[in-house]
Amino acid sequence: MAKKRGSATGTKKPRGKPKSKKDAVDLRRLEPVLKKYREERGAIIPMLQQAQAVYGYLPQSVMERVAEAGGVSPSEVYGVVTFYTQFRLKPVGDYVIRVCHGTACHVNGAERITETIAGQLGIDEGGTTDDSKFTLESVVCLGCCSLAPVMMINEETYGRLTPKKVRTILKSY
Ligand code: FES
Repeated sequence: MAKKRGSATGTKKPRGKPKSKKDAVDLRRLEPVLKKYREERGAIIPMLQQAQAVYGYLPQSVMERVAEAGGVSPSEVYGVVTFYTQFRLKPVGDYVIRVCHGTACHVNGAERITETIAGQLGIDEGGTTDDSKFTLESVVCLGCCSLAPVMMINEETYGRLTPKKVRTILKSY
């Protein structure tokens, strides 16, 4: 089940607004996704998930095209994108570091892990390094609580972390 950010009506502050200028992305890459859901009205979430898999994030022009294909307004699509934490409005780095802040990881020092990574890379949570190599995110439970504290770098899982171990892992990338 997708993690929700807050109310779709916007009680939580969205992470960013769509840019006024159109993003320079090739919308032809989106066509197979739209074609797949042509017969399914209301398939906005799966369309957005697959669009994000294509582009790595959801540029404004892509959200507008999904809205058009799904028969909903761009603001409805934007509401969905800002409601679920799985969707990104900005491009991410080559390596996405997801630090777990679920209960088991929290009590085992997840905060120190995030602080260590943020300090090492010079970015805040949710940020991306200037060279677009790393993005740092927080998630709630990666499903391996016995290894707490845990983080994932792309598909690789690292457990029983300490600040020292984290620094060594980062150096290997
Ligand atoms: S709480 Fe961190 S993996 Fe479950």
